[in-house]
Amino acid sequence: MSKLIQRYTDGERMNHWFIAIMFVLAGLSGLALFHPAMYFFTNLFGGGAWTRILHPFLGSLMFLAFILMFFRFWRDNIFNSQDKQWRKQSCKMLKGDISEMPEVGKYNFGQKMVFWLMTLSLVALVVTGVMFWRPWFTPFFDISIMRIAALVHAISAVILILSVIVHVYAAIWVKGSVQAMTTGKVDESWARTHHALWYKKETGKQ
Ligand code: HEM
Repeated sequence: MSKLIQRYTDGERMNHWFIAIMFVLAGLSGLALFHPAMYFFTNLFGGGAWTRILHPFLGSLMFLAFILMFFRFWRDNIFNSQDKQWRKQSCKMLKGDISEMPEVGKYNFGQKMVFWLMTLSLVALVVTGVMFWRPWFTPFFDISIMRIAALVHAISAVILILSVIVHVYAAIWVKGSVQAMTTGKVDESWARTHHALWYKKETGKQ
């Protein structure tokens, strides 16, 4: 059996799963408020009034927890020279040909794109959400500004939801990834195959 390598600490995993739970709760309560066809989701939150009260708090908790994760992970998500090659070869990789994929560090180009999309959409969600959070902040903003904020809020939510769908799909598709976030450890062969530069850095092996 191949050796295991530590990829995430307990704190990082708790932080991540807290965000994931908040994402589901904020997402479902937001969808319930977005369109009458999804109003039935209010049943999960104690009715329409409670959904409206809870949604901004759930979103704020997700954002606060994401700030912690952002400051732990942002350095590993900075784009570098391998990313261009990874992007060029990604179509072949999706068809199963990984022969020309470059060696990557802790995260590949796709993961980095998702990370920055999540960051930007969450910042946009919190900034615009505050602008029409009645009754607390609305007196500071004109109704026309609030309407634009509501539109940008909905667009950002769609971007975040799509990013998370891609994120979860990729996590399941690349076998052995989910265990990184559940146990904190990954198989040595997983690390060598998918994140060779990170593997070399962690183990000192070539
Ligand atoms: C049920 C839902 C989710 C699953 C199954 C999942 C799974 C995973 C897995 C397996 C990893 C480790 C990937 C690796 O180390 O290569 C990871 C990392 C990460 N996840 Fe999730 N995740 C979920 C939800 C979320 C949500 C809702 C967010 C944020 C809104 C999020 C943000 C991140 C970030 C930022 C990383 C670090 C990777 C990076 O910086 O690119 N995840 N997730």
